[in-house]
Amino acid sequence: MGSLLIRNIRSLVQIETVRRNLVKGPDMANLPSIEDAYLLAENGRIAAFGPMSACPDRADETLDATGRMVLPSWCDSHTHLVFAATREEEFVDRIRGLSYEEIAGRGGGILNSARKLEAADEDSLFRGAWQRLQEVIGFGTGAIEIKSGYGLTLESEIKMLRVIRRLKEASPIPIKATFLGAHAIPMAYQARREAYIQLIVEEMLPQVAGEGLADYCDVFCDKGFFTPEETDQILQAGWKYGLKPKIHANELGITGGVQVGVANRAISVDHLEHTSDIEIELLKNSDTLPTLLPSCAFFLGIPYPEARKMIDAGLPVVLATDYNPGSSPSGNMPFVVSLACIRMKMLPEEAINAATLNGARAMELEDEVGTIAIGKKANLFTTIPLESLALIPYSFGGKAVETVILNGKVL
Ligand code: NIG
Ligand code: FE
Repeated sequence: MGSLLIRNIRSLVQIETVRRNLVKGPDMANLPSIEDAYLLAENGRIAAFGPMSACPDRADETLDATGRMVLPSWCDSHTHLVFAATREEEFVDRIRGLSYEEIAGRGGGILNSARKLEAADEDSLFRGAWQRLQEVIGFGTGAIEIKSGYGLTLESEIKMLRVIRRLKEASPIPIKATFLGAHAIPMAYQARREAYIQLIVEEMLPQVAGEGLADYCDVFCDKGFFTPEETDQILQAGWKYGLKPKIHANELGITGGVQVGVANRAISVDHLEHTSDIEIELLKNSDTLPTLLPSCAFFLGIPYPEARKMIDAGLPVVLATDYNPGSSPSGNMPFVVSLACIRMKMLPEEAINAATLNGARAMELEDEVGTIAIGKKANLFTTIPLESLALIPYSFGGKAVETVILNGKVL
């Protein structure tokens, strides 16, 4: 597979010599780096790195990074990358004054996406998602999680998950798949929601697990969607098939999602735009990660999660894009990092930790990606020439990433 040597790196950021699973609390402000550094990748993995004074003198390919920083690729642990159509009509409706919940209540939102997805075939869904995958790779993403949840019937949920499986097989970056049959109650079940839960538990989950189509189980536990009791039932059923929970919680209100997530040993509880001290305390006494999605708050105009409070309480905050057609039609991790700093008062170092190592942990990929460590995948990027790290979030919406390297190869 060959070797790649990156020379004269102004700053090699997020290096790791002693392996950690994640960073939390005050440690999130530490981002170890080496100035004037080199990095050697061999056979797709990071083989060595250090100061230029110790740089090896040859490799199959060399890249001169004078003036540039090198970072590990972003780890985007929460997306809905597979969908059939954009929803810009609802975007305009919201500009005119309707809320996300009002649009959902009249059959728009997730149900609108489900109708479009039902009519789409696997090939066209694959092509659309593949294009978006290339787009986010260009933003520097080097590992990603993708959810189902626009199917809402046995057939369509399986169709979505098969598309995700095809993406996994063809993708140059690691992908984790999450089953989100409990994303919304379909119209036909609104008068008998327990029958939809039963369909998820008795038909969808067995087939999803039987075909090995998912790594995780998700539920949209929120006001107007699934109750904590329903969520509990689905997560327990998921565990029977070895599917660990990663759930949507507290986007629209304080609705018990954190409690049910922690009780079910969720890997992460995601969103948390509405969170009180009680939830923060609960998370502190658990291994469940709080994943924040600031581009969703930005797009919907809802409150930003209280990242500062969470980090100050000692929590390991994670950042992700939530790329989806309804609440965050963008998979731009550098923009998410900017928003985290600008609107949630995270330090640039904290935001980068949240978007790399902690994101990797939220997909159980911390042994593979998320830091510059010997043996990990050589998924990284060089920045444009930069004087300081803080320029990455500071120059919001700008071009931070110059060259993407995946599996030790320049893209
Ligand atoms: O994470 N909140 C639930 N699910 C998505 C939005 C889905 C949609 O509107 O299509 C989210 O924000
Ligand atoms: Fe989401």
